[in-house]
Amino acid sequence: MTRKIDIFDTTLRDGEQSPGASMNTEEKLVVARQLLRLNVDVIEAGFPISSPGDFESVRRIAELAGDQAVVCGLTRAVEKDIDAAADALKYAKRPRIHTGLGVSPSHLRDKLRITEDECVERAVKCVKYAKKYVEDVQFYAEDAGRSDYDFLVRVIQAAVDAGATVVNIPDTTGYSLPEEFGRRIKYLVEGVRGIANVKIAVHCHNDLGMATALAMAGVKNGARQVECTINGLGERAGNTAMEEVVMAIRMHEDELDAHTDINTREFCKASRLVSSITGMNVQANKAIVGANAFAHSSGIHQDGVLKKRDTYEIIDPADVGAGASQIVLTARSGHAALKHRLEELGYELEGEALDQVYEAFLNLADKKKEVYDEDLESLINERDRNENA
Ligand code: KIV
Ligand code: ZN
Repeated sequence: MTRKIDIFDTTLRDGEQSPGASMNTEEKLVVARQLLRLNVDVIEAGFPISSPGDFESVRRIAELAGDQAVVCGLTRAVEKDIDAAADALKYAKRPRIHTGLGVSPSHLRDKLRITEDECVERAVKCVKYAKKYVEDVQFYAEDAGRSDYDFLVRVIQAAVDAGATVVNIPDTTGYSLPEEFGRRIKYLVEGVRGIANVKIAVHCHNDLGMATALAMAGVKNGARQVECTINGLGERAGNTAMEEVVMAIRMHEDELDAHTDINTREFCKASRLVSSITGMNVQANKAIVGANAFAHSSGIHQDGVLKKRDTYEIIDPADVGAGASQIVLTARSGHAALKHRLEELGYELEGEALDQVYEAFLNLADKKKEVYDEDLESLINERDRNENA
């Protein structure tokens, strides 16, 4: 059996922090139900101290999830935040408090205005304080991606010694390169005493378009939890997209020695749901869930896919709930695609007859982005009229 990678969904917390993507409690509950259908391991339901609405969302999601998933609330390394999270998670069957603070030189110097020693002290204090309420405490080292390697080991060691069950290594600003981020995770695996008894999580942002690659580098180097969101929703350019990282792990399960327990057939439904609730559209060429993810429009590709799907598709669309591959008829389509579509519509054309319709098809396709079934019917009717004239 390969290593199990926990999927920690933060659509309802980090995803919701995306400008314009906020959700009310009822909307969050609808998304949470879909996260349970996906079978995520952890739902980060919100930041309870931030507003009464978010507190209520965490409380209701904790009730909803029962023992199906861990439900987690975010806090700063501040006692009143931790009190609020503990209160919101009071009825959770599997509660987790996610607490922590910045660890990079920029966060220490410019945001928190504390020394390294004070940072370590606060890390220990917040983990110990959260432990008074729950057994499962996740510590985050914000901006770990830009932190000093040895200082990061020191903070994480202190959090582990204080009782953290999961240590989250975020690339908060999406600054890292995948290879370097992977080295950082390895450095922790090798440098922190007792780390084998604790899960390392990776939490990556997409500022350089590499959030999924960064998470994969983390998995390759020993991370056992990936934090992600549906459609990659999240602050600025977003977070690691769940559908991308889960499918990447699945496609490379043997070489990574890793798997997840996600029900991938729910991905497209989840994507549409989050997009319609938040109003954040998904780009057509988005991996896995975009409208064009399984669509083929050039003649060479269409010919290949019609002969054998995997010549140009690495994933069976049914495996992610996307239905079937699509052959889109455009001016780049060839005879094979046209013939195939006409056959589906009940017209068997060969040789010269097919050539004639293909020529008319190309003339039309040059004037339009896509040729639809009704256009094909018109071309056939016109050809029949000309033949009978
Ligand atoms: O990006 C980040 O560092 C975060 C933490 C609060 C986990 O979202
Ligand atoms: Zn984040």
